[in-house]
Amino acid sequence: MLKYNLIVAVCEDFGIGFKGELPWQLKSELKYFSRTTKLIRNPAKRNAVIMGRKTFFGVPASKRPLAERLNIVLSTTLSAEDLPKDVLLCRSLDKAMQTLEAAEWRKTIENVWIVGGSRVYEEALASPRCHRLYLTKIQERFKCDTFFPNIPEDFCEIPIDDETPKGKQEENGIKYEYKILEKILK
Ligand SMILES: NC(=O)c1ccc[n+]([C@@H]2O[C@H](COP(=O)([O-])OP(=O)(O)OC[C@H]3O[C@@H](n4cnc5c(N)ncnc54)[C@H](OP(=O)(O)O)[C@@H]3O)[C@@H](O)[C@H]2O)c1
Repeated sequence: MLKYNLIVAVCEDFGIGFKGELPWQLKSELKYFSRTTKLIRNPAKRNAVIMGRKTFFGVPASKRPLAERLNIVLSTTLSAEDLPKDVLLCRSLDKAMQTLEAAEWRKTIENVWIVGGSRVYEEALASPRCHRLYLTKIQERFKCDTFFPNIPEDFCEIPIDDETPKGKQEENGIKYEYKILEKILK
């Protein structure tokens, strides 16, 4: 079974978005997102990023599709013509994972990242396909209209990996910290 990781930045009340965009501007955190979701061991492969329709269109036009990664957009209303040619449209998260498990993609995709929004995260957290949650905890409250779901009890914090900056980070006076949680196998 092909597994995936989630990656998200949350503020104090677990807010993640406001009016279709990120509520904060943290360049280093965005670079971390980019670096982490691009990271591969086999240079012949790339990673896939799976996201909901609003998250895809919330990325500035000049920055989407997210470079060097296979972008998969979940939507029941879009048609393939609404998306750039190299972006895959899937009707459900299961369908997206089944597509990636097919021989043609399996050979070229190394890791799968779930990158939001709310409903996609919620479904992804509950699935046995979920391996880790890469969580940036911003220590400030921002006005948000979109929130990260409750983290299920079977997630446990693990020591952060070598690629993740350790300890308190700060940018524009905003403090945040990187955490990694792993789903405990039953
Ligand atoms: N802080 C962070 O790390 C972070 C990460 C990601 C996003 N965000 C923010 O979150 C906001 C967007 O998130 P959102 O929750 O509002 O929207 P979203 O999940 O990105 O998009 C919602 C839409 O995606 C489609 N969709 C979602 N789950 C699906 C599924 N399982 N199967 C089929 N289609 C599915 C549906 O499209 P149809 O209606 O077309 O069916 C749904 O209306 C933005 O503000 C963005 O900036 C923040």
